[in-house]
Amino acid sequence: MKVLVVGNGGREHALAWKLGQSTKVDKVFVAPGNAGTAKDAENVDIASTDIPGLIQFAKDQAIDLTVIGPEAPLVLGLADAMEAAGLKVFGPSRAAAELEGSKVFCKNLLRTANIPTANYQTFRSGDDASRYIKDRFSEPNEPVNVVVKADGLAAGKGVIVCDTRSDALEAIDRIASRREFGEAGNELIIEEKLVGQEVSVLAITDGETIVTLPAAQDHKPAHDGDTGPNTGGMGAHCPTPIVDDELMTKIESDVLVPIVHALKRARRPFKGVLYAGLMLTPAGPKVLEFNVRFGDPECQPLLMRLKTDLFDVLEAAADSRLAEMDPLEWDERPSICVVMASEGYPGDYEKGREITGLENADALEDVKVFHAGTVLANNQVVTNGGRVLGITAMGNTISQAKLQAYTAVKEIRWRGAWCRKDISDKALAEN
Ligand code: AMP
Ligand code: GLY
Repeated sequence: MKVLVVGNGGREHALAWKLGQSTKVDKVFVAPGNAGTAKDAENVDIASTDIPGLIQFAKDQAIDLTVIGPEAPLVLGLADAMEAAGLKVFGPSRAAAELEGSKVFCKNLLRTANIPTANYQTFRSGDDASRYIKDRFSEPNEPVNVVVKADGLAAGKGVIVCDTRSDALEAIDRIASRREFGEAGNELIIEEKLVGQEVSVLAITDGETIVTLPAAQDHKPAHDGDTGPNTGGMGAHCPTPIVDDELMTKIESDVLVPIVHALKRARRPFKGVLYAGLMLTPAGPKVLEFNVRFGDPECQPLLMRLKTDLFDVLEAAADSRLAEMDPLEWDERPSICVVMASEGYPGDYEKGREITGLENADALEDVKVFHAGTVLANNQVVTNGGRVLGITAMGNTISQAKLQAYTAVKEIRWRGAWCRKDISDKALAEN
């Protein structure tokens, strides 16, 4: 079988690496890929949003399955276009991907389906949103505890957590007047700020059967102790002891089953990965957001533990045969992924810095270095993004996995490289 993975991040490197281990897969292409996928698969120079280009390539190469990694091509309708061209694809339709593409659509569907989520209001104009805040709070420094969100995709940046009235008005101004997130700011949401631990629960579904994956935890803030600006995710561990079997059953019955049914009832049946970003509040788990794809970096530690042939699972989902699959098999050992980032990230950063030590890190036992923002320049791996590498390791305990991951991190160098030092500590704190 020939597989095409669409995307160029750490998630796509992990997908390509795992798919390449399948006994059924002869060839994995990645479009456009990075320096890591160039080694473990074959890169094709087609952008992940170039729908005609991807379809032409998949036809020319007689690709048996296309796996779409990021949200942007899904929201643009790549899955629909590929299916219309007679190609098999893993990933939701454009209509189903609106769950991530529009936060207003998502929140309204959650409300209709009675799925626990933060209380919210939606607004079509910045003036209405500002009035809502001004009507409720009078002092500039008055605590408001709200979150202001741009409706559309904003590369994870359109969510602004606000402590005071002035923070909230500033956030509304950035989204609705200054248009920092462009069209994503056509509508906005003001919602209640939730407090608790965040967990990521992902499930593979064909729209009927739901296969839940072990819970993972991301680390979104840039600095140790969950401080500093938000990032795409600085590391993850899987599983997390804070989600036990009982809580997982509750998440399945209160969140995953009703959302899959609600999408079906809305005639937007979902095929692909459903990613529930949840806040574990004292009142139970509440949905922060849904994504319509694997999480990055959650995908890396998840797939490192997967023993079942990933191709079989993704093909079964694409063929609506998930009910026929045996339960997924997992390595019992926990895994963690530490993201190494460029100097300056999540703000501006330089590209093109030479990376050394990759082979030594990869040679360590139970370690895999997944590339994200890297590229080959004159046969040398250089930085090409903010999140550069995801150093992923397994161990008999979370502490051992952590030690192994950070041992590998120490092997790798480039000018300005940095990472959080406390990935997975929140899992240990609960033990
Ligand atoms: P989202 O893209 O909706 O997941 O938001 C990004 C991040 O913002 C989440 O991972 C949370 O850390 C934070 N966030 C979003 N909504 C809320 C909320 N209602 N309460 C507290 N934090 C939130
Ligand atoms: N790890 C967060 C995300 O993939 O959206």
